[in-house]
Amino acid sequence: MKIGLLGHGVVGRGVREIIDEGATWEVRELEVKRILVKDEFEMVDPRCTMDFSEILNDPEIEIVVECMGGLEPAHTYAKQALEKGKYIVTSNKKMLAAYCEDLFAAAVANGVTVHYEASCGGGIPWMASLDRTRRVDDIESFRGIFNGTTNYILERMKKEGADFSDVLKAAQELGYAERDPSDDIDGYDVRSKVALSVVKAFDKVVDVSEITTFGIRTIKKEDLAYCAANGRTCKLIGTGTDHGDYVSACVIPMFLKDEDIFSNIPLNFNVIESNSKTLGAAAFVGQGAGSLPTAHAVVQNIIDIWKNQDPEINEKFVKPVDNQTHKGVFYVRTAKQAAFSGLIDRHVSELAFVTKKISLVEAAAAAAAANDETLFIAEVAE
Ligand code: HSE
Repeated sequence: MKIGLLGHGVVGRGVREIIDEGATWEVRELEVKRILVKDEFEMVDPRCTMDFSEILNDPEIEIVVECMGGLEPAHTYAKQALEKGKYIVTSNKKMLAAYCEDLFAAAVANGVTVHYEASCGGGIPWMASLDRTRRVDDIESFRGIFNGTTNYILERMKKEGADFSDVLKAAQELGYAERDPSDDIDGYDVRSKVALSVVKAFDKVVDVSEITTFGIRTIKKEDLAYCAANGRTCKLIGTGTDHGDYVSACVIPMFLKDEDIFSNIPLNFNVIESNSKTLGAAAFVGQGAGSLPTAHAVVQNIIDIWKNQDPEINEKFVKPVDNQTHKGVFYVRTAKQAAFSGLIDRHVSELAFVTKKISLVEAAAAAAAANDETLFIAEVAE
């Protein structure tokens, strides 16, 4: 099975290495025939090309693996490959979350499929487990630590009292962070992963911009100190719940009880948990970021296609996101407290307070009205 690889960065290099090394008989059936790179200095292998048409028009290449990152030209190349009847495997959550309706339609029209295990949870077989669970049960909800960079930052801040910017730099050096690390620390990377999990778990497509999203950019040591003093650990959590006609979905830092298994997920690891009727809660833990774990998930998808074990992509339904039913207590630190008037239960310091039990919609509206770029908000888990 011959593969055209788009992108030779952190993930693309890992895919090439795993396939070239051929550790198992299945992997030895695969061959990276061409590698698309952007610049002359990346032409480090005779298979490298800067011309996408050499991959698109090569009839021997049946699978195009997209590890370029970014929206364009990744989206256009993926669509053109589908229209040529080639399968797509992608690790690019941002691109797929933005264009899944378009790309799935192109896949269905051309009798091929789009695969995205690596786009969510790095090396964890999260998407595969959803497919498997759904053979028996409907998935009702999921929650997860979907971002290795922020988990790494939050753990080192908690355990070592490390400084936010120092640990972000370390995460970048380890290859965990996105090209633009704002996507990690502002929660947008998790937002894309939540959108793709909604697609896989519920067969529903949502507009990513409707997913309420808060990140950890503004977190301070005093927030973590309050959290720890109350027997809690701060994690950036993505959630999704299927309500039939709508989906609730959000990304928000949460103060979890220390005894919650999510509180003990270390470093760049992710954990993602599905909930369904007969299986109940089932959680998967593994490295959520980094070259080889993510490349492993890509190669698993390639082998599924080669073995013809890819579950057909079902029809998807576009549904709205509505977080009115998401109720909770929120910890907020802001100098502009008037926006939260009537919602505050008690102050925990001059600038920080916890709210009464309110809806996420009310909390998000007050946070937006405060218009305070230093505001930090976290949900206090029940
Ligand atoms: N920047 C992402 C993370 C990479 O830290 O989880 C894996 O998707």
